[in-house]
Amino acid sequence: MSRHFAIVPAAGSGSRMGAGRPKQYLELAGRPLIWHALAALAGARRIACVCVVLSPEDDWWPRFDWAPLAARLRVLRVGGATRAQTVGNALEALAADVAPEDWMLVHDAARACLTTAQVDALIDALADDAVGGLLAQPVADTLKRGDAASRVAQTVPREAMWQAQTPQMFRHGVLRRALAEAPHVTDEAGAIESLGLAPRLVAAEAPNFKVTFPQDLALAELILRARGER
Ligand code: C5P
Repeated sequence: MSRHFAIVPAAGSGSRMGAGRPKQYLELAGRPLIWHALAALAGARRIACVCVVLSPEDDWWPRFDWAPLAARLRVLRVGGATRAQTVGNALEALAADVAPEDWMLVHDAARACLTTAQVDALIDALADDAVGGLLAQPVADTLKRGDAASRVAQTVPREAMWQAQTPQMFRHGVLRRALAEAPHVTDEAGAIESLGLAPRLVAAEAPNFKVTFPQDLALAELILRARGER
């Protein structure tokens, strides 16, 4: 039986947020932002361990109390210069402890509205999948490609377009090779695609946006408070 591990890359600076501290440590619903993603993943009983990947220089992590989650967490201080490098380093660090067939669920620290139900649904949907896949959302808006002057250069048909989210779930051995061969991708699925494989798109049933700009923080707070679960 393959096991499941979560990997949460959290070595970014979150510069688009324009805050005085790394985005993952901003306060959200009374907790550091990253707490919410870790709690959702830790709540999924099929996930053996939630691996948080920090920058080696991160001095924010020890300032918070992680005790309620600690039994389910493993902290890896192997963050790299890009998200892909951070994930690649984590896969290397885990190589001795996992099997090539074990599933890795890579999730952005900043997707704070993830629910355990969504994690379970993703694991169920991909249980027998030969490739793996990702949570995603069909695009609802009409898409425009802009030029350098912010004028519309082209309307892009939205049919069959999806927004990629996370978790992205692939087997350790394939993902490790894919990221080593395609280090410039912006998500794990992109690396898998570069091997000629087609990841499965699993429709997200709940809000799962990435907290990126200041206004995202208020919306995430409303959603988490309305659920009243954390
Ligand atoms: O910057 P962006 O929001 O796209 O980052 C997505 C995720 O990748 C975040 O959880 C961020 O902390 C992480 N990341 C990382 N190492 C980097 C850059 C980003 O772990 N060098």
